[in-house]
Amino acid sequence: MQPRDLSAHSPYVPGRGVEEVARDLGLDPNDLIKLSSNENPHGASPDAVEAIRRHASGVHVYPKAAHTDLTARIAEKWDVDDEQVWLSPGADGSIDYLSRAMLEPEDRILVSDPGFAYYAMSARYHHGEVNTYPLTREDDFEQTAAGVLDAYDGERMVYVTSPHNPSGSVMSLAEVTTLAEAVDSGTLVVVDEAYGEFADEESAVSLLDAHDNIAVLRTFSKAYGLAGLRIGYAVVPAAWGDAYARVNTPFAASEPACRAALAALADTDHVERSVETARWAREYLAAELDAPTFESAGNFVLAAVGDAAAVAEAAQREGVIVRDCTSFGLPGCVRISTGTREETRTAVDTLNDVLATLELGAHA
Ligand SMILES: Cc1ncc(COP(=O)(O)O)c(C=O)c1O
Repeated sequence: MQPRDLSAHSPYVPGRGVEEVARDLGLDPNDLIKLSSNENPHGASPDAVEAIRRHASGVHVYPKAAHTDLTARIAEKWDVDDEQVWLSPGADGSIDYLSRAMLEPEDRILVSDPGFAYYAMSARYHHGEVNTYPLTREDDFEQTAAGVLDAYDGERMVYVTSPHNPSGSVMSLAEVTTLAEAVDSGTLVVVDEAYGEFADEESAVSLLDAHDNIAVLRTFSKAYGLAGLRIGYAVVPAAWGDAYARVNTPFAASEPACRAALAALADTDHVERSVETARWAREYLAAELDAPTFESAGNFVLAAVGDAAAVAEAAQREGVIVRDCTSFGLPGCVRISTGTREETRTAVDTLNDVLATLELGAHA
């Protein structure tokens, strides 16, 4: 017995976990600074943690009211109907729901290269095919409608990641509007705003009233610090919001996840602090790292360090885990998530030492 032919499906390569790296290096996990997965260095909101505790004894029951309450709260936040909010296990889950709702076998999607791997993976699971549009280092990964439309060939879904992972660049709402108006009527433009809270740009949710071919992805994994709970959502146009009932996995979001997300939404101080730290840290990285960096609107900074694998490995030996971007097709770059002020300062000192040592070695 074998599964179906999965040779076209590349496995997702996550940033390495603290325990995993500590075990490999024989270090105490508490001595490591993990800046490889764009997580929240402040952790979750204490109110979210308390909500999980409070509702722990009820987890033998399928989630119902919590799902309804969270959907309503998010709909209120964005001033949309409840039906337009598709809760899911992380934004990744929403990518799957959109694939299920949109793709017939052999339909094509268009994604950025480099870019977030899961769009392509999800499309392939749903028997779809994947084309790419380039975002280039030479243009600082600039995102324009024209750049996407140059590659566009009637694909069923077009993904825009704003802020973009791994570069941090954004597509302005004016450009998203141009794109949505230029594509065929049967093409959905998905704007992935997993890092939206860290950016200055207004959310593309504001475009949904006037455009029925735009969907927006959001997550609680980043600014809200709930990555381990797997909770995110899509906001879709009212015209086809009811498709959720036909495509979602039953009980798509767990009771603790919904309760924690409700508490996290109410804890505005925690989100503001998280965003403020990320903004400070990305400025600090840009100013203090001895390598060129790209302007970022996210909670991470892409740096051109030369040999990314060597730099990431050497930094890891010194206790700082950053993301080698070779798997994104950028073997010259590492992506550094923004840490607390202390973590970020230590990471910059460590990386600068590593860069200097590798530089010396190269000239020896
Ligand atoms: C651009 C982008 N979209 C979506 C996700 C998925 O986030 P999650 O499934 O944790 O909500 C990530 C995670 O890193 C991401 O970088």
